[in-house]
This record gives sequence, C-alpha cells and structure tokens, in this order.
Amino acid sequence: MSSSANPRKRIAVLISGRGSNMAALLRNDCGGDVVVVGSNKADAGGLDVARDAGLATFAVGHKDFASREAFDAALVERLNEYRPDVVVLAGFMRILTPVFVNAFAGRLINIHPSLLPAFPGLDTHQRALADGVKLHGCTVHFVTPELDRGPIIAQAAVQVDDDDTADTLAAKVLVQEHQVLPFAVRLFCEGRLSVEGLRVRTGPARGG
Ligand code: GRF
Repeated sequence: MSSSANPRKRIAVLISGRGSNMAALLRNDCGGDVVVVGSNKADAGGLDVARDAGLATFAVGHKDFASREAFDAALVERLNEYRPDVVVLAGFMRILTPVFVNAFAGRLINIHPSLLPAFPGLDTHQRALADGVKLHGCTVHFVTPELDRGPIIAQAAVQVDDDDTADTLAAKVLVQEHQVLPFAVRLFCEGRLSVEGLRVRTGPARGG
C-alpha cells in the first residue's frame, strides 16, 4: 500500500520492437505503475501489447524530424504529458542526445544485452561468441550521455555453451532480462538506489 507521502511511481517505457521487456514490467510488481508506452515506430509490436493491457501509447517517428535533437525534444514533450517519475528504455533502438538524457537525468534507465562495460552497442551476442567469453548476460543501468556507459544498477549472467549460436544466446539472455529489469526498476521506485560516480549502491527500502 502507498501513502500520499510516498505515492507509487509513474513509469514511462520506450520500445522499438516486440516489447517483451516492457511486458515483463507489466507482469511483475515494479513498485510503480506503467502510465504510458511510447515508440519511435508506429508499428512496434509492443504497442499492441500495451494497448491490449489498457495502457496509453504513442509513437513519434524519428524520420519526421530533421535532427536527432529535434526528435529528442519532441519525445521529451510527449513523455512529459504523462509526468513520469522514471523513463525506462526497454529495447529502444535510438541513440539519444543530451537533449533527451539531460531532461530525465537520474531517472532514465536502460536495459542492454551484455555484461557492460563489455560489448556496448549492437550485435552483442555475436560479438560475445566471437570473443570467446564464457559468461555473457545483461545489464540495467542509468543512462548518461555516453552510450551504454552509465552507472550499473543490476546485472545477470548466463553461461556460454559450446553449441551456442547468437540466437540461442540471445534467448538465454532474454530470460534474464525479463527478471533483472523489473527488479532494477523496483529498486529505483522504492528509492533504494544511490549513485556515486559509476557505482550504484542499494540501500534498505524506505517505509511509507
Ligand atoms: C532486448 O534484448 C534488449 O536488451 C535489446 O533489444 C531487445 C528488445 O527486446 N536492447 P524486447 O523488445 O524487449 O522484446
């Protein structure tokens, strides 16, 4: 139960595709309520999932803007209509400029399919196999202007098996993503995270 002094957090989620991580946020108690799901793609499958769950959705097409900054400013404006306490990038496949990152500084969270700081960027599973790592996984982190380099909230690892392909590895990692993202968002919503440099410390839940 929440009190008026400690209301449930308002969570906005951005996606670009099927939205399985977004769905994991809906399935689990994240200590807050998803109030809107947005996308840069009007045909993102996850928007249908969100609508079926009765959620507000929007799409802002990045191709309709002359610059990344103009797109980011439009996205900030749409999101702010929903007064989010936290914005979660759940498979949102756009590089964001400081216009966006600074608008939500300290309350912008991303899930990335590798054990950062290894394998920032794209094609993480293929690159993990090519480098022969034995452990791979996913990372939930605060977003800073530097790509995939913000303070790490939580990680989960999977073993890389001899017969793994990029697809089997992606599937194994995705199972972990669906666990670790709701977990990390809940820590945030419960006010338990403190950030010092690149380190995130997790304190006890605050009452209320
Ligand atoms: C996830 O693997 C996420 O980490 C990556 O893109 C994928 C999105 O999957 N950035 P979904 O849309 O959440 O199903």
